[in-house]
Amino acid sequence: MPPLSDVRPIGIYDSGAGGLSTLRDIRHALPDEPLVYVADSAHLPYGEKSQEFLERRALAIADYFVSRHARAIAVACNTATAAAIGTIRAHHPDLVVVGIEPAIKPAAQLSRTGVIGVFATHGTLASPRFAALAQRAASGARVVLRPCPDWVLLVENGQLDDDAARAAVDSAATALLDAGADVLVLGCTHFPFLLPMLRQRVGPDFPIIEPGPALARQLAYRLRTEAPALVAPAGYAGGCELLTSGDASRLGEQAMQLLQWDLPAERLPATWR
Ligand code: DGL
Repeated sequence: MPPLSDVRPIGIYDSGAGGLSTLRDIRHALPDEPLVYVADSAHLPYGEKSQEFLERRALAIADYFVSRHARAIAVACNTATAAAIGTIRAHHPDLVVVGIEPAIKPAAQLSRTGVIGVFATHGTLASPRFAALAQRAASGARVVLRPCPDWVLLVENGQLDDDAARAAVDSAATALLDAGADVLVLGCTHFPFLLPMLRQRVGPDFPIIEPGPALARQLAYRLRTEAPALVAPAGYAGGCELLTSGDASRLGEQAMQLLQWDLPAERLPATWR
């Protein structure tokens, strides 16, 4: 059993509150690990930012996690993964670094029509990393794309079930269904919070692949195989901290609305904002 002082936290970040969906999945897979979540809300949305900007933010936030003695970083953002995960890995070869990508491969395996629909940000869909993934993993299926920057803002505003959310979800889903998609991929960590609305449009049995569980499984596997001495012992109850480059009380409200987690949030120290 490791001494408890050796149990170093896992750093998780996103542009804002979307990565809270991934935080929930990680907590489910790793119930005892100490988790530190950073919402880079002062710089939201990531989907419209340049690769250079996202690399700069990735390195600043990774430096913050290192200052907290993190042993792993989970990039809970498809856009930041596409733009900057290589940069984080190059600067921190000693950390376990995992990211999140649209689940093209499992979608291709499920599809009967051979058409997969992907909702994501402009940044993710325009990235060379996504182009390579679609080429490699689609196994001949056609991948139809729908950028949904408006979904990100709806989730940030807490508008999960109003008329604006319904209209935005209906029009994006209709475009992909009309193109023949029989599997939908949520390629952005904000989007699971609109799943109930999407289900109303496509029905309860339509295959929709969420982003977080695969990242959480991969993170748990890599920690156990690559850093087992640092894994928290069962029952350690490592807790969870929330930080943001934006408005701390707002992040606390978002955690309450989106996860029903009652946690205080703090401002990220100025050096890393
Ligand atoms: N949640 C993010 C993602 O998974 C990005 C949303 C945004 O800031 O544009 O892509």
